[in-house]
Amino acid sequence: MNLTGFTDQWQAERQQLFKSVPPEGQKVRYLDKEFLVYPNTFWPFADSMPLVKHFTVAPGESVLDVGTGSGVIGIFACYRGASRVVGVDVNPAAVLSATHNLQMHGFADTMAVLQSNLFEALGDERFDVITANLPFRNKPAHDLVAMSQWDTDFKTNIRFFEGVGRHLKPLGRIYFVQSNFGEIETVKRLAHAAGLQIRELASEVIDDTRRQEFFAFEMRRS
Ligand SMILES: C[S@@+](CC[C@H](N)C(=O)[O-])C[C@H]1O[C@@H](n2cnc3c(N)ncnc32)[C@H](O)[C@@H]1O
Repeated sequence: MNLTGFTDQWQAERQQLFKSVPPEGQKVRYLDKEFLVYPNTFWPFADSMPLVKHFTVAPGESVLDVGTGSGVIGIFACYRGASRVVGVDVNPAAVLSATHNLQMHGFADTMAVLQSNLFEALGDERFDVITANLPFRNKPAHDLVAMSQWDTDFKTNIRFFEGVGRHLKPLGRIYFVQSNFGEIETVKRLAHAAGLQIRELASEVIDDTRRQEFFAFEMRRS
């Protein structure tokens, strides 16, 4: 089987795993912390680790976490001292999971989670920092669980870069996840077209036979 075939099969298996979680949820350990995922939620995983380990949030900054899933990136932003964090996710299961997790970690006064297709539910608010670990493959997604890994015609990513400038403060920064089995060159092109400059912040390889590599990029207005 070629690499694309392996990745398709592995991701389809992960989606079955997300669907098979019992109604009371499943505990997942991530870095040094525990999170709970309800059924149909993306489990915190190695893909976000280059971002979570290396992004900076100065105490008092505001953070928007787009595609928050279990809320993991937003919750780490709270631990770094953010004064306000908003997580958005299109999947109501993710909203439930992230809301549970932010309460479990003691950040109910700092973080809120909204069900939202990208920025739709946000109004005009602008943030110092925007984080995003969006589905990074251009592949048809036929349900909300598949939409955690696959993006039909890359539309969500395209709309992210079309809209992100309206929610980023003038000197704000974006931290964005991609992978060597995703669409790095397309993302760079979309970011440049949106007037953003990009630098690689960090990367990590999962050292199995597939050598999956995950990247965190930092983007700022050019
Ligand atoms: C790869 S998962 C990442 C979850 C979490 N941020 C993490 O790092 O573990 C992508 C998330 O983006 C969400 N998502 C996909 N399309 C979206 C959209 N149009 N608007 C908001 N969230 C979306 C999915 O539901 C999923 O929770």
